[in-house]
Amino acid sequence: MSSRTPCSPDVLVVGGGIIGLVTAWRAAQQGLRVAVADPQPGGGAAQVAAGMLAAVTELHYGEQTLLGLNLESARRYPAFVAELEEASGQQVGHRSCGTLAVALDADDRAHLRELHALQIRSGLESAWLSGRECRRLEPMLAPGVRGGLRVDGDHQVDPRRLAAALVTACERAGVELRRTWAERLVVESDRAVGAVLADGGELRAGQVVLAGGSLSGRLNGVPADVLPPVRPVKGQVLRLTVPRPYAPFLSRTVRAVVRGSHVYLVPREDGELVVGATSEELGWDTTVTAGGVYELLRDAHELVPGITELPLVETRAGLRPGSPDNAPLLGFTDLPGLLLATGHYRNGVLLTPVTGDVLAGALVSGELPEVARPFSPRRFTGGRPGERPASREAAVRRDTVLQEQSA
Ligand code: GLY
Repeated sequence: MSSRTPCSPDVLVVGGGIIGLVTAWRAAQQGLRVAVADPQPGGGAAQVAAGMLAAVTELHYGEQTLLGLNLESARRYPAFVAELEEASGQQVGHRSCGTLAVALDADDRAHLRELHALQIRSGLESAWLSGRECRRLEPMLAPGVRGGLRVDGDHQVDPRRLAAALVTACERAGVELRRTWAERLVVESDRAVGAVLADGGELRAGQVVLAGGSLSGRLNGVPADVLPPVRPVKGQVLRLTVPRPYAPFLSRTVRAVVRGSHVYLVPREDGELVVGATSEELGWDTTVTAGGVYELLRDAHELVPGITELPLVETRAGLRPGSPDNAPLLGFTDLPGLLLATGHYRNGVLLTPVTGDVLAGALVSGELPEVARPFSPRRFTGGRPGERPASREAAVRRDTVLQEQSA
């Protein structure tokens, strides 16, 4: 067993992006003593993300199970925002503005028709509009828009403000923020017992949650069979601003697939307009490229020609934590004491409320809440999804049986 001191936390969260912070905040609210290791709490992918809460407009074939979790998190968003704003005294820019997904040519229109059929089959609310109806809603749209989907339930939040509010909420809830890297997981007697930190210390804890975003698969000391299969997927994003006094520009999120690439424009109440995003499998590269910026501006300009008049104030690239099935890894691993909250890929901001709730539930009760069972990391290793592992020995024995069966 671990040699914890009386002041050791109950939980160490490795990674202080929005997923690590919400886990820490919710766990602290449950009465657990929590520490977070991250050199820049509130940093990470949330500093780049646009913050669309797009359960319906980002629906993909084969992702119906993920849709259930996305919808559940979207349902929790208003209450989550109210509680977080109260706890932190900060606004997070949640806007119930809806989304319009439009098509510019016959191919895009066919794609959108398919998406609409899938949405309807999945019981979702989405209305088909003609090009004229789209322009009536959003007069800045290009005259060539051929039709679109009005999805009144897909909203937005400002991820930077969300991250800042979570830092404050954590501090106010007594979470210890260790502003340093976790260099290595400490495993003793086949149990995760803490981490060695880059500032030289070792922090011991009753349970460890690995919530390192795209870096989650890189923590030293994690046994190979429980290392999360996440990879970085680069996204380049632009920020423009609508000068004051605001001329009417866009009233809701507008998005499209233009020649096979996704482009979206997310208008904030304060005049910021976020344009995203590329999707590139280039490892750890976070260079903003001329090609990436060009493609985003070209596609956004086709949708909303007036965009070229706006000041371009920021270009940035971030890394989404991609997983093999595009869904997150939530809950217990086969290493006692180690849980995961990672692999959120395109849905990290949307899944923040439900992730905090299910991780805190698992940490307190030893059982993964029902809603998260399909997202157990054990779906990749053949284990039972919901429970805290009895022992490492049992997990390894099970793996051996599985290997023998498949040999
Ligand atoms: N969900 C938006 C993106 O990943 O680009």
